[in-house]
Amino acid sequence: MTRQDVFQLIEGQHEAIDQLFDALRKRIAEGDRRRMTIELDARIRSHFHTDDSFYEKLRKVGVDTGLLGCLLAQHPPLLARVDSLASCVDQGERWRNALADLRKRLDYHFGEEEAELFEAARELLDRPHAQEMARRLVEEASRVGTSFATSAE
Ligand SMILES: [Fe+2]
Ligand SMILES: [Fe+2]
Repeated sequence: MTRQDVFQLIEGQHEAIDQLFDALRKRIAEGDRRRMTIELDARIRSHFHTDDSFYEKLRKVGVDTGLLGCLLAQHPPLLARVDSLASCVDQGERWRNALADLRKRLDYHFGEEEAELFEAARELLDRPHAQEMARRLVEEASRVGTSFATSAE
């Protein structure tokens, strides 16, 4: 089995969040909506922890700090929207609009990471280094208790 690299790790987390958005759009029975909104909240927070640490590691290997700063600055306003989604889980229409809005903004953020950031990082990381970075991110996440379902292997 080949070990995952950091790009596969981050993409896998983005994908898992996307799948949760898909499921939330379909299944909107009251109890499910509440439970899955909490899960989405936790997954996004956990992923941003991993991103923060990923960006820091990339800064150390020489990825452009302007690009990293720009992406890092997108996290707090996204988290504010995650908070407001959780706060309107009982209000059908408002919740649906907040969900669609959050997804659109997150898609944009994930897209920038997977295009510009990955491209810049791939120029500086060979595969063994990218695999080692994934291993360390998973280890750090499990140490601080934010381990993510797709982070195994
Ligand atoms: Fe991010
Ligand atoms: Fe990300």
